[in-house]
Amino acid sequence: MFLKIQFLFLTLFLAATVATAIDPVDSGGSLRFLSSGSLRLVNGSGATVWDSGTAGATSAALEDSGNLVISNGTSILWSSFDNPTDTLVPTQNFSVRKVLTSESYVFSLSGIGNLSLKWNNSIVYWTQGLNSSVNVNLESPVLTLASIGLLELSDVNLSPPVLVAYSSDYDKNANFFRVLKLDNDGNLRIYSTNQGGGTSTVRWAAVADQCKVYAYCGNYGVCSYNDSSTVCGCPSENFEMVDPNDGRKGCRRKVSLDSCQGSATMLTLDHSVVLSYLPEASSETFFIGLSACRTNCLSGSRACFASTSLSDGTGQCVLRSVDFVSGYQDPSLPSTSYFKVCPPLAPNPPSSSAETVRERGSKVPAWVVVVVVLGTLLGLVALEGGLWMWCCRNNKRFGGLSAQYALLEYASGAPVQFSYKELQPHSNLLVLYVYT
Ligand SMILES: *[C@@H]1O[C@H](CO)[C@@H](O)[C@H](O)[C@H]1NC(C)=O
Ligand SMILES: *[C@@H]1O[C@H](CO)[C@@H](O)[C@H](O)[C@H]1NC(C)=O
Ligand SMILES: *[C@@H]1O[C@H](CO)[C@@H](O)[C@H](O)[C@H]1NC(C)=O
Ligand SMILES: *[C@@H]1O[C@H](CO)[C@@H](O)[C@H](O)[C@H]1NC(C)=O
Ligand SMILES: *[C@@H]1O[C@H](CO)[C@@H](O)[C@H](O)[C@H]1NC(C)=O
Ligand SMILES: *[C@@H]1O[C@H](CO)[C@@H](O)[C@H](O)[C@H]1NC(C)=O
Ligand SMILES: *[C@@H]1O[C@H](CO)[C@@H](O)[C@H](O)[C@H]1NC(C)=O
Repeated sequence: MFLKIQFLFLTLFLAATVATAIDPVDSGGSLRFLSSGSLRLVNGSGATVWDSGTAGATSAALEDSGNLVISNGTSILWSSFDNPTDTLVPTQNFSVRKVLTSESYVFSLSGIGNLSLKWNNSIVYWTQGLNSSVNVNLESPVLTLASIGLLELSDVNLSPPVLVAYSSDYDKNANFFRVLKLDNDGNLRIYSTNQGGGTSTVRWAAVADQCKVYAYCGNYGVCSYNDSSTVCGCPSENFEMVDPNDGRKGCRRKVSLDSCQGSATMLTLDHSVVLSYLPEASSETFFIGLSACRTNCLSGSRACFASTSLSDGTGQCVLRSVDFVSGYQDPSLPSTSYFKVCPPLAPNPPSSSAETVRERGSKVPAWVVVVVVLGTLLGLVALEGGLWMWCCRNNKRFGGLSAQYALLEYASGAPVQFSYKELQPHSNLLVLYVYT
């Protein structure tokens, strides 16, 4: 007898009004089903992290689909599928009034079948409508991730369901778990995980260019790419990072515009844009030339904090009138942006050459590296051997299933399986993957 608990989900409910994330629970945390009927998640110090608020409930059951259902015998009082947080699992129905939330980002489905990603519940930085060849009025569209990796939209007026997106490893036979997740970087992705466990791989992303996610680098943050990943920086040294250890928190002016010594001026940032999406884009876009794009922002009649001349042949200029600026810089962008700052202008030093110089300055002879690496490896091997001798030689099983183990797995986000034998002594322990 081998019981596989392969994918248990508890997609915790976040009241739309309380748009805060649930804090991670430490290894001392527990999930309790109280006699009052509430299912409660408490952390190591006994503080309530989440409560289902289901007074009068008599059962909490995890269905085969992964849906956790709390009921009072006659009615379902709460279910994890009806209360998604940031993740949608296969067979979970996502309808028009539901949202996936991650920090300031929200994913939703509209009545006409549009999928959209919004920042601060207003700026729509990604939207995908129904394929224009589908010409029907939808009644109550529902989005579902089929376990084979297809994201489909179904409706009573649609048959068969319409394909919206698919996982690049889409396959009828492959043994993969897939989830649709709104990450805290504002991108919506399909992840695939081999059933044996292991790492999750991104198989689809809504926003192909991460730097186009609004506010990804915070206010006045400028997103760019180095070889391997996105980098958040500031427009110039007239700004400083809000948190030097986390570029995503954005930047702020060192001197605020109302306390300039002398009158404000415009900093020029080549190959960059100030992102502008609906609904603001319509009131921010003008058809004026390059130099007017700069001077109108500096001294025009309306409030302006930054501007971009698209230089793509359309003559469009974006005048940013809200003091929240999300920037993107890349050598491939033809546009030029201007940021209003106090003098004197302090452009960023050319970054690549600066880094190369620093690297050269600290160059260590190769033999030193080899010796250090070998020494470290030998040390680790010795340490691990010692630990094994000390702890595990007399202990055939490694202590079985502990809450700590479950929570470690939870932290890694990977599904795990336990044999029935491992679970039996702990049948009063509910092991859950808490996707928050
Ligand atoms: C439990 O949560 C409370 C309230 O959020 C917090 O103050 C406390 O540090 C947490 N304890 C642990 C062990 O995480
Ligand atoms: C279960 O809950 C429903 C809805 O709240 C209520 O109408 C019903 O009376 C409850 N049943 C029992 C047995 O408490
Ligand atoms: C999702 O919706 C379909 C069609 O309405 C329904 O048959 C199915 O039971 C629903 N699934 C869940 C888990 O509620
Ligand atoms: C975010 O939304 C709130 C409430 O709708 C609004 O007051 C605030 O100005 C918005 N922030 C930005 C930077 O747009
Ligand atoms: C729906 O999405 C399409 C793009 O796919 C867009 O052109 C249209 O304006 C959207 N409609 C709404 C109401 O957001
Ligand atoms: C729209 O549907 C048609 C016919 O089903 C298909 O050929 C086309 O590729 C679809 N377009 C998109 C953008 O999915
Ligand atoms: C790219 O940026 C990441 C994150 O800032 C950093 O860890 C990595 O070393 C950078 N890579 C290069 C080639 O500069």
